Amino acid sequence: MPEFSAAESLVTARLRLDPLAAADLAGVHAIYADPDTWRHLPSGRHTTLAQTDRMVDESERSWAASGLGRWTIRLRSDLPGTNLPAGSIIGVASATLMECGARNFGYRLTPASWGVGLATEAATAALAVARASTFPVTARALAANLASVRVLERIGLTRVWSGRGLPGAEPDGTPLAGADTAPPHPHSIALERVIFADRPLPGELLAAIIRLG
Ligand SMILES: CC(C)(COP(=O)(O)OP(=O)(O)OC[C@H]1O[C@@H](n2cnc3c(N)ncnc32)[C@H](O)[C@@H]1OP(=O)(O)O)[C@@H](O)C(=O)NCCC(=O)NCCS
Repeated sequence: MPEFSAAESLVTARLRLDPLAAADLAGVHAIYADPDTWRHLPSGRHTTLAQTDRMVDESERSWAASGLGRWTIRLRSDLPGTNLPAGSIIGVASATLMECGARNFGYRLTPASWGVGLATEAATAALAVARASTFPVTARALAANLASVRVLERIGLTRVWSGRGLPGAEPDGTPLAGADTAPPHPHSIALERVIFADRPLPGELLAAIIRLG
């Protein structure tokens, strides 16, 4: 279990997680603008600071509404073999509350920090507190993103759905004749995706999450 150093911050062996704040904007934007962190979904890359700013706003709304949102992940000490010093922002972990009433769990780390277990370490701490809140914890990943899927498995979430397309639509998102579907997500709905959760999900909630792409 993580040690709680402040009401909303988490401390692990190598990391410190604090609620994402406007002061972190530049450091977080650099990671979300890095094409290497979007290899599996290039269209998701942040090309303007305003996109990252909206993410900060969404996080703040989630913290206010549900007690959790996104965290900035910082190193507690220099990361060996890299030029990442203690205190540097290496990524973001998320447990934001979505309109459908479930948490959206996720993470994005700077490539220089990959491969030494830091996403697993941050996600384990974040998931512990997310699970303790009342809302279902869900996570969506592209099936081709093997590292992300592996982290979700390692932290103990359960695969509840995999597939492509939308309920009531063709695999490319084209609504079936007469089907009542939300507008398709243009970037990912045609791709093979995996949904994880911390509990069985009611059918309507699962369908709403599938529609998010
Ligand atoms: C996904 C991501 C967070 C993983 O970060 P990380 O710090 O390297 O992850 P960890 O070191 O904690 O663990 C990665 C796991 O995936 C495994 N892995 C990594 N690359 C892999 C690959 N190509 N194939 C299979 N497994 C792979 C690792 O072996 C490890 O599993 P193990 O501990 O059982 O050996 C990082 O790659 C990232 O930020 N990617 C870009 C953003 C992203 O895709 N976010 C998720 C969106 S759903």
